[in-house]
Amino acid sequence: MKDRQELPEDPTSTDLSPDTLAVWAGEGASLVQGATQVPVVYSAAYGYPDVDEWLDVALGRKPGHIYSRNTNPTVHAFEEKVRILEGAAAATSFSTGMAAVSNTLFGLLSPGDRVVSVKDTYGGTNRLFAEFLPRFGIDVELCDTTDHEQIEAAVAKGCSLVYLETPTNPTLKVMDIARLAVAGRQAGALVVADNTFATPINQNPLALGADLVLHSATKFLGGHADVLGGVICGGPDLVARVYHYREITGAALDPMAAYLLIRGMKTLALRIDRQNESALRIARWLAEQSAVAAVYYPGLETHVHHDVAARQMRGYGGMLSFMVEGGFEAVKRVLPRLRLAHRAANLGAVETIAGPPATTSHVECTAQEREAMGIPEGLIRYSVGIEDAGDLIADLEQALAVA
Ligand SMILES: Cc1ncc(COP(=O)(O)O)c(C=O)c1O
Repeated sequence: MKDRQELPEDPTSTDLSPDTLAVWAGEGASLVQGATQVPVVYSAAYGYPDVDEWLDVALGRKPGHIYSRNTNPTVHAFEEKVRILEGAAAATSFSTGMAAVSNTLFGLLSPGDRVVSVKDTYGGTNRLFAEFLPRFGIDVELCDTTDHEQIEAAVAKGCSLVYLETPTNPTLKVMDIARLAVAGRQAGALVVADNTFATPINQNPLALGADLVLHSATKFLGGHADVLGGVICGGPDLVARVYHYREITGAALDPMAAYLLIRGMKTLALRIDRQNESALRIARWLAEQSAVAAVYYPGLETHVHHDVAARQMRGYGGMLSFMVEGGFEAVKRVLPRLRLAHRAANLGAVETIAGPPATTSHVECTAQEREAMGIPEGLIRYSVGIEDAGDLIADLEQALAVA
């Protein structure tokens, strides 16, 4: 069972700006009968009356599709769009972001391998590190996220995979991808970076030295909080290894989900530009409020790694978090008063979304585990939507009055 990943070359030139690529890239080969939009191809399998041709496609000697658990035309167009925006040679997709993370780790690691990562990865990823990988004899060392010397020392002890996520969820810590990619390469390790928060509009980890970049497409890529998906991009051999694992585990992206992701991505650059601008303005405003004990946003000059963020990001993103005076009790008073935010376990949408880590990013962890990870209970994670920033600030002002 072997499907071709490559289809006829897309006519879109990578010399174009990301704004243009988000609209056009990856779609050309999938348009049929004059349609201007990628069709949703709902076919479980693809028929070949000519057995020789069938064999050629099945063995990867000719482009084409065999079975939609492996490849599908709509899904392929989505993968191509992300691949081109990330400047990668290959891409493959998954049913969710966690399927992308878990299939990448289980597809590339074996018993006896060692992984180095950090304490602040997304809660689901942290569960894989703390609970599931060790069960398969894979050793995981989780370092302090902001202590790059400690991470480099852990990598230098020898490891097979370095797993980065930057900016982190929910405290917006920033990791120096170029520096840690050098450490990984010196140790002969693969370097994987979760780029969900930054998106390819703000940051391209492969250009900074990572071997693989992954996304929860559920978030900013889709952008409308109505679809789940995941994607990884990188070199052909690595992506093929993960693709092979995914075609067997079966965590394939559904064609309708791929269609919604393609449609959402057409406005990716527009949305991210707006969200970058609004989040910076809101973070600066929050930093001046007496009801706010701390603001976490890489665009603030006071952020511990603002210099690294300024070097590796083109924009600081739509995610921020802040700590209200009065801890979790104050969070419980403030959140219900917000009029312009869904109180929900999601992020990256056109609507603003707010919530505490205890019910969002780190719902899988106990209060003690969150404390050990340095995630305060008085924190509110705020995903800035595309609304008017002035309206959002006014909404936060009236809500914080009860903190
Ligand atoms: C940074 C990051 N990576 C991965 C995931 C997992 O994505 P999904 O919910 O699509 O499985 C999330 C989810 O919030 C996330 O924030």
